[in-house]
Amino acid sequence: MKRPFAYLAGVGRCAPERILHNSEFAALGLETSDEWIVQRTGIRERHIAGPSETNTSMSAAASRVAMERAGVHAGELDLIVLGTASPDHLLPSTAVEIQAELGASRAAAFDISAACSSWLYGLIVAEGLMMSGNAETALVVGTEKLSAIVDWRDRSTAVLFGDGSGAAVLKRSKHGKGILSTYFRSDGNLAQLLHRRAGGAAQPFDAAALADRSFYIEMEGREVFKHAVRSMADACDRALDGAKLTGADIDLLIPHQANIRIIEATAKHAGIPMEKVFVNVDRYGNTSSASVPMALEEAMASGRVTDGSTVLLVAFGAGFTWASLVVRF
Ligand code: ACO
Repeated sequence: MKRPFAYLAGVGRCAPERILHNSEFAALGLETSDEWIVQRTGIRERHIAGPSETNTSMSAAASRVAMERAGVHAGELDLIVLGTASPDHLLPSTAVEIQAELGASRAAAFDISAACSSWLYGLIVAEGLMMSGNAETALVVGTEKLSAIVDWRDRSTAVLFGDGSGAAVLKRSKHGKGILSTYFRSDGNLAQLLHRRAGGAAQPFDAAALADRSFYIEMEGREVFKHAVRSMADACDRALDGAKLTGADIDLLIPHQANIRIIEATAKHAGIPMEKVFVNVDRYGNTSSASVPMALEEAMASGRVTDGSTVLLVAFGAGFTWASLVVRF
């Protein structure tokens, strides 16, 4: 089917109120420092959700902004695709909770689990369902409350993650705007490098999991780093090839915000100077599924993405999964 078929008609973002600075980890009993975290990751602070801030409440807030900007009301949504690695409940999906919260009674709603690549996977799935005639108007959400599944005693992961939500409304493309190319891949052989061992059906949550803390996120940081750099580079190449463009044609690169060093390596590979790369990892940390849509919303709000901008979106996450899109605004 001819592209662009779908465009991002409105984008919204929501971050919890509480900001946790690097300097606060010491008081939480973690042996770390602002200097170590900034030097290794580029992160200075992150937003952490309070007990009343859930994926459903944050996503609903982000979605309402996206819908208002797109001029779409809840009754017009045919589809809600929600990416998350930290769903509010294991059953049912967080997508149906948002559906109820928004009153999107006509929509089919489901979650996607591709870790940090989930929102990009969601855009690709939504575009496909629009192309096949199953939906006209779609809401694609990326949301995380990672603070609920991070081991706050593990300094190698606790300092990296944050909470938040981002959302976009997809409509039929007009005037040549929209998704120009997509690419997504995964490699399940590497699942154990970033995972939660317990809490699922294979190893249900029990006293042993509570004692050995195996229901929290565990990560081999150095290995993940290597694969992230390699896969994000591959994903940039593929999406640019698909759109018949080069790095020089891109007005802004919006990569998954995991670590400034991974972002710099990705930009260098794609031949895109850092002035054309959007970075907010310093203020949000790694918000996984929410990272790219939150960054996109900030880029649009600050005027770095305007009418006619050509943007490269790229992400990498647990699985491993990786994905990329070129989008014209
Ligand atoms: N403060 C101080 N020291 C620390 C901390 C901390 N917060 N965390 C680890 N260290 C120590 C380690 O214990 C180790 O000490 P040792 O040498 O005495 O054993 C030392 O620092 C070096 O540890 P490394 O893990 O080798 O440090 P590295 O330079 O690789 O940085 C980091 C670690 C930041 C996690 C890096 O590997 C990284 O960013 N990896 C990618 C992680 C990522 O992006 N994950 C998400 C992608 S997928 C997704 O988003 C879900």
